Amino acid sequence: MKKFPKDFLWGTATAAHQVEGNNVHNDWWRWEHEVVGRLKSGIASDHYQRFKSDFSLAADMKHGIHRFSVEWSRLEPTMGQYNQVEIDHYREVLAELKKHNIKSMVTLWHFTLPTWFADLGGFESKSNFNYFYRFVELCAREFGGLVDYWIVINEPNHYVVKSYLMGMWPPQKRNFFTALAITRNLATIHCDAYKLLHKIIPDCQVSSAHQLINYFPKNRWNPVDIFLSKLLSFLANDLFIILTKGHHDFFGLNYYYKFATSLQNLIRHITQVEVVKTMEDLGQDLGWIMDSKSMYWAINKIWRTVGRPIIITENGIADASDILRQNHLIDHLKWVQKAIIDGIDVRGYLHWSLIDNFEWQSGFIPRFGLVEVDFDTQVRTPRPSCSIYTKIITEGL
Ligand code: BGC
Repeated sequence: MKKFPKDFLWGTATAAHQVEGNNVHNDWWRWEHEVVGRLKSGIASDHYQRFKSDFSLAADMKHGIHRFSVEWSRLEPTMGQYNQVEIDHYREVLAELKKHNIKSMVTLWHFTLPTWFADLGGFESKSNFNYFYRFVELCAREFGGLVDYWIVINEPNHYVVKSYLMGMWPPQKRNFFTALAITRNLATIHCDAYKLLHKIIPDCQVSSAHQLINYFPKNRWNPVDIFLSKLLSFLANDLFIILTKGHHDFFGLNYYYKFATSLQNLIRHITQVEVVKTMEDLGQDLGWIMDSKSMYWAINKIWRTVGRPIIITENGIADASDILRQNHLIDHLKWVQKAIIDGIDVRGYLHWSLIDNFEWQSGFIPRFGLVEVDFDTQVRTPRPSCSIYTKIITEGL
């Protein structure tokens, strides 16, 4: 039995649009309602109303940190007009975490944009950046004293791929050059927001949550597979790290899967338009391979290239049966522990997710929660993984 460091941060992560419900002023809500048949978030996990009881569950499980996103479109539903009720709401959310002695990690942008900002072209246009900075400043001034860790952007690479390469998420574009430009723009806003947060709250802790994918050649002797795996790794993993160098107090690392790289798999992935219909789709379709050892690879890569303390800001598996999740947790945490034993400064692990939620274009089918949500009644039922996770937190592996 090996314990983790005493002050290791244990917890979970969520995102506003996936759990709160009724985020009616953002581009995702509009997109969900544009076409008949698209899966709709509706009241999602009703976390907006139920955050207190959800946090009680987290406290019962001995969690010491919780990551959530503030929804920009709630705070600024109309350009330049802030909603005081929503400001108070998030202050209440932060105060509730404090009450339970749970540290907070606040994501400023997790995929959804206020419709007015999306209509201006979102992050495509540099002249829009100031709207985001104004929002960052609002959050820093209103919530600063209550926030322990800041995440500026969630998974810039994931957003760029889904929204600007695959054409799957709003604004449904497919253009390699726009995708590259957005990557650069997101790196710029990360760096500017980093400086802005530090100007307002000098000793704050800021990063973004960057998803690392282990692109390996499907056939390790095939030069095309080798070349593509290197190229994809550079574009999806390295570029954002290089462009944001020196602008991370810690590094937020999301890790889910590795990708068997071949031209065929890449084309299938990029041209995928189907939503996930079953659990199996998530784990096995399109070269998605859950591989715990790649967690170790990802941690090492960040340590070598960024050299900042690392917090795993997301890692999890869609598994309604909870059979896979139990091993998934143990296997991945073993590799986290090995990295710590090797001397890498890993400070925390936040499982995705606390509760079942709205999994974007795949709706409510994939179940990522430690806690099950019955979406008809909103009743919460902790899955067996909850006690396994608590046992690891209190006793080690
Ligand atoms: C995203 C989450 C998503 C999770 C599972 C991450 O890439 O940040 O919003 O729910 O993956 O697919």
